Amino acid sequence: MSGKRILVLYGSTHLESLNRRLASLVAEHLRKNGVEVTFPDVADYELPMYNADLELRHGIPDAALRLHEALRAHQGVFIASPEINANISPLLANAIAWVSRVQENGGIQAAFGEPVYALGSASPGAFGGYRGLMALRNVLELGLGAHVLPAMVSVGMANQAFNEEGQLVPPMARQMLDRLVSQLDHAVSNRTQFNNGMPS
Ligand SMILES: Cc1cc2nc3c(=O)[nH]c(=O)nc-3n(C[C@H](O)[C@H](O)[C@H](O)COP(=O)(O)O)c2cc1C
Repeated sequence: MSGKRILVLYGSTHLESLNRRLASLVAEHLRKNGVEVTFPDVADYELPMYNADLELRHGIPDAALRLHEALRAHQGVFIASPEINANISPLLANAIAWVSRVQENGGIQAAFGEPVYALGSASPGAFGGYRGLMALRNVLELGLGAHVLPAMVSVGMANQAFNEEGQLVPPMARQMLDRLVSQLDHAVSNRTQFNNGMPS
C-alpha cells in the first residue's frame, strides 16, 4: 500500500445523483493510481439543519464528529459539489457548517487545513456547476483555510456526458478529470513524503 489516502465525497443524496457518478469516477481513477480511496455513502452523514440553539442544547451531532474524523484521517479530499442557484448545495453547506464547529481533535485546522482539497461538479446545465465550485472554493479557502488545488473538473450537460460504463464521453471533461486526478495524486504524494521525512 502506497500510504496515500484520499476521501471522495459528493454533496447530494439524490438517488440518481450526477455528482455521485462523478465522485465514483474520480475514486476509480485514483484507485488505478494505487491510492487508497474511501468513498462513503454520504447518507451516512445525514445532519439536522445547523442551528446555534440546537448545538447549545445537544452539542455537535455524531455524524458531524464522524465526518470530522474522516476528513482528518485522509491526506486528500475530493468533493463533487452540485450547483444550486449558482451556489453550493444546501446539504454540503450544512455539513461544512457543522464540521467547522468541532473544536476537539484539531478542530478546523485538522479537518480543513491539513488535507489537500480538489473540487468537481456535474450539472445538466452548460457551465457544469463551475459557479458553484467557485463558491465552494471561497468557503474552503477563505472561510476555513483549506488548500484547494487549481485543477477542477466541471461536467456540463452531465445528464448526457456519462456512458453506460460510467465513463465520461466529452473529451474536454475527460481531460479535466485526468488533470485533476494527477494533480491530487501528486499533491498527496508530496504531502506523504513530507510527513514521513520531516518532524511535524
Ligand atoms: C433549486 C435548484 C437550483 C439549481 N440551480 C442550478 C444552477 O444554478 N446551476 C446549475 O448548473 N444547475 C442548477 N440546478 C440543477 C442541478 O445542478 C441538478 O439538479 C443536478 O443534477 C444536481 O446534482 P445531483 O444530480 O448530484 O443531485 C438546480 C437545481 C435545483 C433543484
